[in-house]
Amino acid sequence: MSSKAPIGVFDSGLGGISVLHTIHQLMPTEELIYVGDSKYNPYGTKTKEEITQRCVSICDYFMEKGCKAVVIACNTATSACVPYLREKYPFDIIGMEPALKVACSFGNHQKISVWATPFTLQEEKFANLMKRFENEHIIDKVPCPKLVELVENDELDNIDLVRDTLHTYIQKDQANTFDSVVLGCTHFVFFKKELRDLLPLSVHIVDGNLGTAYHLQDILKQKDLLNETGQGSIRMENTCPEKIGLARKLLRKMEEIS
Ligand code: DGL
Repeated sequence: MSSKAPIGVFDSGLGGISVLHTIHQLMPTEELIYVGDSKYNPYGTKTKEEITQRCVSICDYFMEKGCKAVVIACNTATSACVPYLREKYPFDIIGMEPALKVACSFGNHQKISVWATPFTLQEEKFANLMKRFENEHIIDKVPCPKLVELVENDELDNIDLVRDTLHTYIQKDQANTFDSVVLGCTHFVFFKKELRDLLPLSVHIVDGNLGTAYHLQDILKQKDLLNETGQGSIRMENTCPEKIGLARKLLRKMEEIS
């Protein structure tokens, strides 16, 4: 395996672009291929079998491209099938899960609201993660499928709709009285700025993007696969080719908000 090989990054659609951006910031000399599966979005309301089938088809494509590692920039897909994918493919696979550990590290007896897709929150992987922390902290689960739709439908500039939707989810468990809101879906990172305006400053807004990028970097370093002298590039692909324009727009948005 050559360090010059590309890194594959994928999501059920456009949410993983928030992770792609963080990876590119941290490792600008790497060649990145992003596959958004917008044709089959959302994953968050599908079955495990359906999600696994989609992930296999995307990872087969990354095999063809000779990727040296793959990032599942999707909490939902990770909870559906990461062990299966790791068995099946020779490259390292970096998955994502809601950054509950980070939120719990802010102190004792934290009140934490976890926002994610219905699938992530009902899966065993998340139940196991909660078990590690729920004796000590109060953890509330809020499924937010509407936020995924807003990103996929290019509604981020519809500020009134964005605020109303965020407000509805804040109301669900009175998240404004909590210590942290964990963004456990990569689509939600695009709402960070608006959410910041709606929540008191005392509420931490936590996501797993930087942790994932560092984890990828560590793995590549360990395997001597970092490409430190490359030109660096981002290639955008989508199972719905008409979404490529929106994908580029979201990448620019990440540049603005980070
Ligand atoms: N972006 C995905 C995640 O991180 C899920 C969105 C969806 O397809 O429902 O979970």
